[in-house]
Amino acid sequence: MRSIAWQDGFVIFLDQTKLPLEEVYVETDDENVLAQAIKSLAIRGAPLLGIAAAYGFALSFNKLKAVDARSLTACIERTTNLFTSTRPTATNLFWAVNAMRHVAIDSAGQPAETIQANILSAAKALHAQDEENCRLIGELGAAILPNAASVLTHCNTGSLATGGDGTAQGILKAAWELHTLKHVYIDETRPLLQGSRLTAWELKKLQIPSTLITDSTAAFLLQQGKVNAIIVGADRITLNGDVANKVGTYGLAVLAQYHNVPFYVAAPTSTIDFEMLTGHEIPIEQRSGTEVTSFGGRQVAPEGVDVYSPAFDITPNELITAIITEKGVLRSPYRTAMDDLKKKDLSSMVRRAVFH
Ligand code: MRU
Repeated sequence: MRSIAWQDGFVIFLDQTKLPLEEVYVETDDENVLAQAIKSLAIRGAPLLGIAAAYGFALSFNKLKAVDARSLTACIERTTNLFTSTRPTATNLFWAVNAMRHVAIDSAGQPAETIQANILSAAKALHAQDEENCRLIGELGAAILPNAASVLTHCNTGSLATGGDGTAQGILKAAWELHTLKHVYIDETRPLLQGSRLTAWELKKLQIPSTLITDSTAAFLLQQGKVNAIIVGADRITLNGDVANKVGTYGLAVLAQYHNVPFYVAAPTSTIDFEMLTGHEIPIEQRSGTEVTSFGGRQVAPEGVDVYSPAFDITPNELITAIITEKGVLRSPYRTAMDDLKKKDLSSMVRRAVFH
């Protein structure tokens, strides 16, 4: 099973906080449980947040009895607030909420069952579209990777984080199948260890040769010439090509430039914030200090120590070799590439949600 699915009025999702030790699936028909799962990172990864929010709308609307204009608006607003207050950085979440709002608004005046059917089929379409996006990103990305690629990646960008095979990881999988990938180095990704807990787990299942490193080993690895490309995902990309991704990404981009190694970002167009000009405007989620002061349930810092723990950082566009989307590979100048992208045939759902 994928990391999330819809089955007979229920959402089933894999609780990622339990990995790699336990594979626990949660089944719920309560949108509040889904929102809480996003907050606790049981469901995580930018594209998956959008898919979960879309199914959250379907759960909310399934409970709707009366469908007069007032109750419809109330349901839209309540569900919007529920999901937009979970995590602030990933565009995909806000994009999906916007898309679902439009489907609900467009359904006004129709019987409850029709509205519910419209919402559910839109959520399923959004999920299916993300799966297809991963496939296209994988294909496009694998085509530009160096031969015998030895790739460093950060955080988790695989099937756990998306509706398909993943973004950056989708490229690794595609390249592995084409025999152009030699090895993957996985940053453990402090403090929540998405690299060691999730990516190492996924790559092992895929039987892709990989080596886990601590985040602070990356520089030494590049100095030794053991990496010929870095690929990461993204949580938000602005019009000038700046990228918010898991904290530590910016450091890797600086390293890539110093060591003359290409630095690629892979993300669907639903990660692009077409209304934000630069990365400076991106809201960065701050995490609790306890995630840093304890490790494996054991306290590893003195009581009361001050902690700064942003979940994401911003990589400036000039450090990015290319942004690989399902609609093509974008290169500098990114502002022009984004304008060209807008003219392309974005799916009607993306267009409606973004350029409303
Ligand atoms: O805090 P997380 O685990 O949700 O952060 C996820 C990342 O930073 C991923 O790299 C990003 O969402 C891309 S997922 C395809």
